Amino acid sequence: MELKVGVLGATGMVGQRFIELLAKHPWFKLEALMASERSAGKRYDEAASWYLTSEIPQDVAESQVELIDVGVAEKLGLDLVFSAIPSSVARDIEGSFAEKIPVFSNTATYRMDRDVPLIVPEINPDHLSQVDTQRRGRGWDGFIVTNPNCSTIGLVIPLKPIYDVLGILEVNVATMQALSGAGYAGVPSMAILDNMIPFIGGEEEKVEEEPLKILGRLEGDEVKFAGFDIFASCNRVMVRNGHTESVFVKTKEDFQASDVEEILGGFIGEPQKLKLPSAPENPIVVMEDRDRPQPLFDRDTCAGMVVSVGRIRKKKKNLLKFTCLSHNTIRGAAGASLLNAELAVKKKLI
Ligand SMILES: NC(=O)c1ccc[n+]([C@@H]2O[C@H](COP(=O)([O-])OP(=O)(O)OC[C@H]3O[C@@H](n4cnc5c(N)ncnc54)[C@H](OP(=O)(O)O)[C@@H]3O)[C@@H](O)[C@H]2O)c1
Repeated sequence: MELKVGVLGATGMVGQRFIELLAKHPWFKLEALMASERSAGKRYDEAASWYLTSEIPQDVAESQVELIDVGVAEKLGLDLVFSAIPSSVARDIEGSFAEKIPVFSNTATYRMDRDVPLIVPEINPDHLSQVDTQRRGRGWDGFIVTNPNCSTIGLVIPLKPIYDVLGILEVNVATMQALSGAGYAGVPSMAILDNMIPFIGGEEEKVEEEPLKILGRLEGDEVKFAGFDIFASCNRVMVRNGHTESVFVKTKEDFQASDVEEILGGFIGEPQKLKLPSAPENPIVVMEDRDRPQPLFDRDTCAGMVVSVGRIRKKKKNLLKFTCLSHNTIRGAAGASLLNAELAVKKKLI
């Protein structure tokens, strides 16, 4: 099986991760690199400031960047596209592609639309069936499937088994988010060197809402959101890659810390059962050292596709504390989209 794919926003931080991950993907062949007018018509290595430590694949370096346009997909016969463009332009652009072919999007724009699945394959693979409603309702030949915000994913994966086994009454979370999460032009060096910034526009709302949709139950065509509150405080820190989060969970049932270690460490989902190419063996790695996880050492564990969880402790009856870490441009973005597309292929949606 080889499906022809394109990347929208191929020159950006997430776009570059797509290129890196697609270079060795067994099912998807990268056929089109698309970006804004700034890059269109240039060789890729002239248009993009490559920030990854891996080499740009030679064929990509020499390829021409195309202006984002659905005509490119039609001309090349693309089977699907991955999108990593700014949310301010995504409604029209992603919509125009979805009229024709499947779109797997990192962008916030469509995530909370009622007919758009917001998928973490280990948690809510059944929500993919919303694609049929979406196609019918919007009259599209293609569809849009979204993955969550980069901080949401590191939080919601450990919350899932806790929610299933212990129940959740309330979650408080403080994030420490890497610079790459803000895009290449993101945060000026003079603002962040020797500093941290206790505000990221729009981020707290996403972290507070998206997990409730992902953990929600599909009833007919609609998702009934999980019924607890999340309170988030989001911070930008001087780390290159890897978002760390301090999490406090009020559970319904009481527990011992060792129970939670077992619940998290033993958790697997559909990608593991289906052996999807980008699936890690276990989506959660439990760390016992008292000073881990740390972004520098733990963000690349299992090719950046896992959430590392440590400092699991019980504060008092029904109050759990832990620290989690995930790679924001891999599990939090490009890797998440790839896993969603692999699931959709297995489910014969493509
Ligand atoms: N970085 C992360 O960790 C992360 C995680 C999850 C989700 N996301 C989301 O993914 C998307 C991309 O993020 P990023 O960090 O990769 O941003 P980025 O580094 O700023 O890259 C943006 C990409 O979009 C293109 N673009 C910019 N303006 C455009 C326009 N008007 N029309 C068409 N294309 C345009 C850029 O092309 P040019 O180079 O030609 O300007 C570039 O390829 C955003 O929606 C972001 O919120 C990011």
